[in-house]
Amino acid sequence: MSTPKSRVMHRSLRATPPKAVGGEGVWLIAENGHRVLDASGGAAVSCLGHQHPRVLAAMEKQAAKLAYAHTGFFTSEPAEELAERLVGHEPGGLAYVYYVSGGSEAVEASIKIARQYFIERGEPQRAHFIARRQSYHGNTLGALAAGGNAWRREPYAPLLSGAFSHVTPAFAYHEKRDDESEAGFVGRLAAELEAEFQRLGPDKVAAFIAEPVVGATAGCVTAPEGYFRAVRDICNRHGALLILDEVMCGMGRTGTLHAWEQEGIAPDIQAIAKGLGGGYQPIGAMLTTRRVVDTIRDGSGAFQHGHTYLGHPMACAASLEVQKIIAEEHLLDRVKELGVRLERRLTERFGNHRHVGDIRGRGLFQAVELVADRATRKPFDPALKLHARIKTEAFARGLACYPMGGTVDGRIGDHVVLAPPYICSDGDIDMIVDRLGQAVDVALKSVGH
Ligand SMILES: Cc1ncc(COP(=O)(O)O)c(C=O)c1O
Repeated sequence: MSTPKSRVMHRSLRATPPKAVGGEGVWLIAENGHRVLDASGGAAVSCLGHQHPRVLAAMEKQAAKLAYAHTGFFTSEPAEELAERLVGHEPGGLAYVYYVSGGSEAVEASIKIARQYFIERGEPQRAHFIARRQSYHGNTLGALAAGGNAWRREPYAPLLSGAFSHVTPAFAYHEKRDDESEAGFVGRLAAELEAEFQRLGPDKVAAFIAEPVVGATAGCVTAPEGYFRAVRDICNRHGALLILDEVMCGMGRTGTLHAWEQEGIAPDIQAIAKGLGGGYQPIGAMLTTRRVVDTIRDGSGAFQHGHTYLGHPMACAASLEVQKIIAEEHLLDRVKELGVRLERRLTERFGNHRHVGDIRGRGLFQAVELVADRATRKPFDPALKLHARIKTEAFARGLACYPMGGTVDGRIGDHVVLAPPYICSDGDIDMIVDRLGQAVDVALKSVGH
């Protein structure tokens, strides 16, 4: 095998991906001129598409004024203004922002502030976190320990903290029994969570952490009605915090700025990233309540955490402009409308497809799950790497989508996530589904189906 020329350690060490040299709205342009419709915003990042002139101008303006000032000495105008915009109106009681550089860091900060909050409240025994199987919370060791995806955890298992345990995900397609009602399924999951609190000792649990809509690892899985209200009640009853990881599903992706708005509950701590800056700058954030911040302020006085690039002025300026555009152009309404169209088109194309078992998601965050047999929901042999074949076939047809394997349990199952930009046209949605349809059929044919 020839060694690729690039010195960059790419995701595959055996192949160098094509060079992207330009972007234009929903399109990405490769060096050879190949134009690719960005139907997943990378990994649900590019909510405003590429090269948005207003965001570029805001970044230029900030760069000309002040590129960087360490938060150990200064705050900055964009950091303050962005915080006002995000939590000035205290949505769901979230009143403060802690800026970081990405999703994993946002999750790390969420876990650490939950722990510190309980130490400062005089409950230092609360050192356990309950999460869900098949969740993804990031790749740093703390976030990976929280995550419940078997394949991602496996090589690092000896390094992962035992402070995290995992319960069954609210993944109806695979976890709900055929003879069970939706309410019955929610009741069973709630009972399992309650039992996990009891097993650990309810006063030993700091927080429950979950993605309101599970993204990369299971493919846009929404929870059944009432699930998050049940979870919120259990946390409240035992004095534990609820951490919601909206790194992928948040910031408008599902049609409301926060995915939890559609669940009738709010978290104590929330992680956001991706759509926060739309990919224009690396930025993430942890949002939390007055109760959490005031407890620490009245105790030690400082969150015992930090990174060099916290609150980076360039990142905050880009993100501020992204959020202004989403609000001023009423893009959340557009996400809802486009989401309805996307679902309709996916249903038309794949509703009767013999190898598409489920079409699911919310807003511009939808996925199809591939199965060998619809009746039994039996997945394909993972050795076929069907998801990777779909990715390749889609890319060859000018479509970037986000297929992933391990849908069922981290090892078996295939799904494709779509997370197109909020600025898509109706025609873009149709083209996405059309190209995906072709890619899925060609990939299936290549494995003899
Ligand atoms: C739900 C969720 N949490 C955390 C992360 C980690 O974010 P990052 O890759 O920016 O570190 C991701 C990334 O895909 C995610 O989907």
